[in-house]
Amino acid sequence: MPARKRVAVLISGRGSNLRALIEASETGADYPARIALVLSNKADAEGLRIAREHGIETAVIESRGKERAAFDAEMHALLQSKGIELICLAGFMRLLTPEFVQAWYGRMINIHPSLLPAFKGTQVHERVVASGVRVTGCTVHFVSPEMDEGPIILQATVPVPPDATPQSVAAAVLEQEHALYPQALRLLAEGKLTIEGQRVRVL
Ligand code: GRF
Repeated sequence: MPARKRVAVLISGRGSNLRALIEASETGADYPARIALVLSNKADAEGLRIAREHGIETAVIESRGKERAAFDAEMHALLQSKGIELICLAGFMRLLTPEFVQAWYGRMINIHPSLLPAFKGTQVHERVVASGVRVTGCTVHFVSPEMDEGPIILQATVPVPPDATPQSVAAAVLEQEHALYPQALRLLAEGKLTIEGQRVRVL
């Protein structure tokens, strides 16, 4: 098997998608990626504890009060120094500079809890329920400079029943996220994805 790709997961909070990625890389003998670094912009992110429990290196670069360009440059330098090849954003609540995104374009992916391009941004499940849609879901996409707009890799759908609440939808979508994100990282790490404009071809 070729060497596993070295992945950094960037988080700001809970880290349940981080956990799903860690578990996939630990349990799948043929999983083509390993989580080499977990980087948080908040020192109290719960996900840091999950990483430490699994013996994964962690780093904190506080973003509060820092210029965006300086913060991104610091992150970039750290990621380079650790030999990181791929980045997964997993609840990383910080906008990235176009320079950082360009530097990692095609090697950085994100998960979003809606069927993009619907419901970009935050407060997704509240807006989903209020809108009356019958179906929602989650999306893994390449990160491009415009938030939640990069080429789509995989999506999974979740029904929105008549009695749905933002909490019930969030829980159902999150379950799908935990299955979808490891699948998408596998495809990326195996070199099976090519970007053609806004579309992604899966080999
Ligand atoms: C997830 O819903 C993800 O789709 C969104 O932020 C949330 C992160 O949750 N980008 P967790 O930290 O992975 O538990």
